[in-house]
Amino acid sequence: MFGWFPFRRKSGPPPQAAPLSVIRQSFEQAAADEEHFPSTIDPRIYHVQFIARHFGDLNGKRVLDAGCGKGRFARVLQHQCPQAIITGMDLALAMLAHVQPPLEACCATLTSYPFPDSTFDAVYATESLEHAVDIEAAIAELCRVLKPGGKLVIIDKNIDHWGRFQTPIWERWFGQAELETMLRQHCRQVSSEFISYWEDVAPDGLFIGWKAVK
Ligand SMILES: C[S@@+](CC[C@H](N)C(=O)[O-])C[C@H]1O[C@@H](n2cnc3c(N)ncnc32)[C@H](O)[C@@H]1O
Repeated sequence: MFGWFPFRRKSGPPPQAAPLSVIRQSFEQAAADEEHFPSTIDPRIYHVQFIARHFGDLNGKRVLDAGCGKGRFARVLQHQCPQAIITGMDLALAMLAHVQPPLEACCATLTSYPFPDSTFDAVYATESLEHAVDIEAAIAELCRVLKPGGKLVIIDKNIDHWGRFQTPIWERWFGQAELETMLRQHCRQVSSEFISYWEDVAPDGLFIGWKAVK
């Protein structure tokens, strides 16, 4: 399983930097694995609700899904808000092949987007920041392209649960306060909470959702 990722053991050394080319190639291959990198998501899953509730009505708004994979979150948001202009951005072209109009697709890295400052009304990243390697630069870039007053969501994994899965050598998980502190350098109204897949199931602490307003 996951033969395309250079893995480290669960209790192995801390994350190691990996060349972007290695990360890109791994995800180009991983795109063929629909089970672990699905192209759809049930809109009732709380991760979707968490994003949609923070953003509110996106009709007429510009939205960025950073590290969108196959665009499963973007498709749900587009369905809910047909007049939203949603761009899915990812490193891997094989992932972006699933991101079809009316969604816009953009191939770029989490630390450097081809967008001017203050382009988007809403920006989100679901389980992609963990792959960004230079986390502070990736947070700065997420916030740079957000308009003043724009809204941001990050969903990722909690460092306190590190070791639960095998992870690629470059992957990082985060402390709740750690990302809040980074976000406060760029945004106001920063908060976070533990979330689970289903709203009526108590979170087990693996996933954290961070919300901010720039
Ligand atoms: C675990 S998948 C999550 C995909 C999507 N956000 C979702 O929840 O379905 C991580 C995604 O991040 C992308 N990614 C990894 N490193 C990246 C980088 N440096 N820049 C842009 N995208 C990156 C991968 O290609 C992959 O599609």
